[in-house]
Amino acid sequence: MILSKTAINQLILWSSLNFSHTPWRVNRSLYSTWISEVMLQQTTYQTIVNRYPNFIARFPSIESLASASEEEVLIAWKGLGYYRRAKNLLLAARFICEHHEGKFPLNLEQLLQIPGIGSYTANALLSIGGDLPFMAIDANIERVFARIFARKGAKKSDIHRELTLSPPAALLSFSPRAFNESLMDLGREVCAARWAKCSECPLKLDCLTYSSNTDPLSIPLAEAKKIQQKIVLIRFLVHEELKLLFYQKTQGEWLAGQWELPTFTLDHPLTKQYPLFSSEQNHLLISPPILSLKSNITHHEFQNRIYSISRQDFINHGLHDHFSQHATQFLTTTANPLALNLSSVTLKILKAIKGV
Ligand code: ADE
Repeated sequence: MILSKTAINQLILWSSLNFSHTPWRVNRSLYSTWISEVMLQQTTYQTIVNRYPNFIARFPSIESLASASEEEVLIAWKGLGYYRRAKNLLLAARFICEHHEGKFPLNLEQLLQIPGIGSYTANALLSIGGDLPFMAIDANIERVFARIFARKGAKKSDIHRELTLSPPAALLSFSPRAFNESLMDLGREVCAARWAKCSECPLKLDCLTYSSNTDPLSIPLAEAKKIQQKIVLIRFLVHEELKLLFYQKTQGEWLAGQWELPTFTLDHPLTKQYPLFSSEQNHLLISPPILSLKSNITHHEFQNRIYSISRQDFINHGLHDHFSQHATQFLTTTANPLALNLSSVTLKILKAIKGV
């Protein structure tokens, strides 16, 4: 897959004119590249543009991150989701400080030995951080290549394999960093999965999809979709005077270490995460919940139904005993959300209900 030099020059110029102010591109370092690339892997660009500066202000160097507690890092990560990333950042920072004197090794094999650094992040550190001839291939790049070369019938994974087996020659005649990032910018801003602004595209004269008048949205071929199951969660605001009952999620559970309202699943065999609500207690759910809201964890979508109950009733109806088989760490507090590492959905619930 070969792009003309003129096209690449145009692409890089377009990107530098429009996106060189992106926070992690100003005062760039391997550390800033690492943090931003890990953030960008599962969270939207705009969210990261807003959130990256706070995280960097809180942990300005790898040493400051390595010496933080997991709780501190998780609190700084709040709202970004996929919390394993934050835990892995901490593990990797400690490893790099211990084994590499706080400096990222600019070598693929050594990077891959760092806990929590996978192939994408290692390549991004080399290409974007180190400006070395490597490709960090994300979904934007897969889509842009599939469309420029009008690869009808190809899936993103096919393009990924091809780019890995034969990296673009442009990596040797242009800045790999600029080449990589400008393709990502193009995929995000112009050549997106659900829309394409071809008239604005700096590569349109080189794009085979454009010149053959093919619908860009038909390329690449859609991957088979995972069926998402909606899961109903019953969450209780267990109150005693002005205080609420929280429990802490344990190791091995989603959101381990975070605090939540006592929560049951209604009908889903997800009992490793939340105990099943007993059908004998269905009468407690006859009146409508005081709040309903949607949330997500990884590939699961939840419908949260929030009910209010006194602590005495929670005990009298056997719910406390039932829930205690699942959780061990409980706390009754007025819940200052800043003092307690509450899960994002718990914060949302409290804000909605009490205007915290
Ligand atoms: N997506 C992933 N990494 C990126 C980067 N460095 N710039 C823009 N979008 C990205």
